[in-house]
Amino acid sequence: MEMTKEKILRILRESGDYVSGEMLADTLGISRAAVWKHVHMLIKDGYRIDVAQGKGYRLTGVPDLLYPSEVRYGLQARLLGRKIVHFMSISSTIIVARQLAGQGAEEGTVVIAETQTQGKGRLGRVFVTPPGGLWMSIILRPQIDPMHAPNITLLAAVSVTKALRRAGLEAAIKWPNDVLVNGKKICGILTEMSAEMDAVNFIILSIGINVNNEAPLETATTMRAELGREVNRVRFTQSLLETLEEDYLRFKEEGFTPILWSWRRYSDTLGRPVEVTYQDEVVRGVAQDVDEDGSLLVKTPDGSIRKIVSGDCRHLRSL
Ligand code: BTN
Repeated sequence: MEMTKEKILRILRESGDYVSGEMLADTLGISRAAVWKHVHMLIKDGYRIDVAQGKGYRLTGVPDLLYPSEVRYGLQARLLGRKIVHFMSISSTIIVARQLAGQGAEEGTVVIAETQTQGKGRLGRVFVTPPGGLWMSIILRPQIDPMHAPNITLLAAVSVTKALRRAGLEAAIKWPNDVLVNGKKICGILTEMSAEMDAVNFIILSIGINVNNEAPLETATTMRAELGREVNRVRFTQSLLETLEEDYLRFKEEGFTPILWSWRRYSDTLGRPVEVTYQDEVVRGVAQDVDEDGSLLVKTPDGSIRKIVSGDCRHLRSL
């Protein structure tokens, strides 16, 4: 449900001009003093609002933050982002999303943080998440066999790649779920599941994208670095949520096959010589394909095909 602050913002945005306190109070069914209290809170949140005697209030600037009121305004998704929880700083969006999901939060709830103090990466690694990036976790409740949960990770890689391409970047997927631009990592994806033997309770789909932040590593890049300009993070977040929703609904209706074809098309790994580290074993060969469960099929120099369920993949120049 839209909160009073969100309603005031919407009215000010739609007017584009001064709106009187009286008119806001009447529309919202609150007192003029209450209107002022909410406007004051918006100013404290970083909104620029002109207050003119006899004219009322006029919105002149919005903060560069991923507030729910910003991301939800004009968002074309119906499921993802119906509820958005935002933090300036949090341990990890995964921790919050897990708690909310455990308390019954609805499918599509999104947790966003401007920065995290305990950003979590794959395989127990630390993931650095400075201000200016997009760090979010999404609660999903698909009615699928828990065995098929890894499909969601590949689906997210496809959606992120599409959203980055729409933003003008030549993004491609490195197996299993990194998205690269010009050979450097721009996005990491992590999924966690809570399930019974034959049913998924919830999946926490987490996505970290370097947008306007500094690249945390030599091997990483950012949208700003690749495009040579600042990116409107709110618009990009909306575009990503809309793309994800479209792919997710299609997956629920048509199954994984269409997503898998997109994954193959956007893959930077298939056809390349690779070195995959899987537990203590290192497999070298040419990446042939991914199968329905997301495993990488690698043709080794002796001609045999190895199926690798998970691991770390390095792209090589030659074998
Ligand atoms: C990886 O590439 O290792 C996966 C990185 C996933 C990072 C995101 S950022 C939002 C969410 N919160 C976290 O602590 N991690 C994920």
